[in-house]
Amino acid sequence: MNTGTGKPARILLLPGDGIGVEVIREARKVLEAAARLFGLSLEFHEGLIGGAAYEATGKPLPDETLEEALASDAVLMGAVGGPKWDGLPPALRPEAGLLAIRKGMGVFANLRPVKVFPALVHASSLRPEVVAGVDVLILRELTGGLYFGEPKGRFPAGAAAGGERAVDTLAYTRREIERIVRLGFELARSRRRQLASVDKANILATSQLWREVVNEVAREFPDVEVRHFYVDNAAMQLIRNPRQFDVIVTENMFGDILSDEAAELSGSLGMLPSASLGEPGRPGLYEPVHGSAPDIAGQGKANPLAAILTAALLLRYSLNRPDHGAATGGEAVSGPATAAAAVERAVERVLAEGARTADLARAGEPVISTAEMGDRVVAALEAEG
Ligand code: IPM
Ligand code: MG
Repeated sequence: MNTGTGKPARILLLPGDGIGVEVIREARKVLEAAARLFGLSLEFHEGLIGGAAYEATGKPLPDETLEEALASDAVLMGAVGGPKWDGLPPALRPEAGLLAIRKGMGVFANLRPVKVFPALVHASSLRPEVVAGVDVLILRELTGGLYFGEPKGRFPAGAAAGGERAVDTLAYTRREIERIVRLGFELARSRRRQLASVDKANILATSQLWREVVNEVAREFPDVEVRHFYVDNAAMQLIRNPRQFDVIVTENMFGDILSDEAAELSGSLGMLPSASLGEPGRPGLYEPVHGSAPDIAGQGKANPLAAILTAALLLRYSLNRPDHGAATGGEAVSGPATAAAAVERAVERVLAEGARTADLARAGEPVISTAEMGDRVVAALEAEG
């Protein structure tokens, strides 16, 4: 951890698989430019995760990677997975590495902001008047629920039963619910003071506990308006009238599903960043919401903006500490929060100027490559810095 003034912030890059490698390269470029322009001192390390880690070490999350992650200020991850590893036993699949690093870092809160850039209102499959101005923060519980509950697995056929059985367990403790819900209220308080809690309390016991806890914590936040949604209705409302939402807080699997749906509001899954946070003072894990997209990997077609916007979240949530700024001692120095906002403005600007990767382009619009998009953002950042 950082103690001394001006000690560089330690960032662990985990590019992973597929387009993860290409988009993390661009995100790093942008972080380096931001560091240069805003007087931040960053130190980059690189590690293995996912299929790439499996190939090199036989494990999707080598011990060394988790140790490095825990010793860093922040971890910037690309994506994991690919058809090459689909046949592996569950514990060796790239996705197991992702789940293990989330659990190992204790990052229970996954922030997935969905903001529609004005230049992209036509990129969504929904009508522009539905998506214009959307600004939703999906807060997904990340280390509990169906992803981690025990028992889990495949069980051989019993004598009487209907053949082999597969089991997943959905379990939540009051403590797990309380900490994510409280963060939901705090985030709502810093925004438009509206919290939508999503559950399936008409069916699931975990959801009944969830709803109870939300109503209890709500008493501490009388200034925040709370609404409860069943998840099926939430999925519908999210595309019917997305502007009604400010902060959405929900459990792990519902959050996984709703955030992909919400991505379409922004025009492309290639636009959505995320930040995964644990207890205060612990390193955060930052990853674009999109996957490894093996179909376009290595072709320079991937949209790096989700990774670049993720890098902005890293600056905002993990490096915004007094000991990370001002490393160069110059007078024109400002902090990581300023740098984060500048990166977001740079992205908005290149989009307004018409820069489009293939996922964003409409018929006939010129398309630029992954690296060109990264360069454009750096240039926009320099122009304003
Ligand atoms: C996500 C992804 C992951 C998840 C997969 C790759 C395991 O879909 O981050 O949303 O389900 O959490
Ligand atoms: Mg997902």
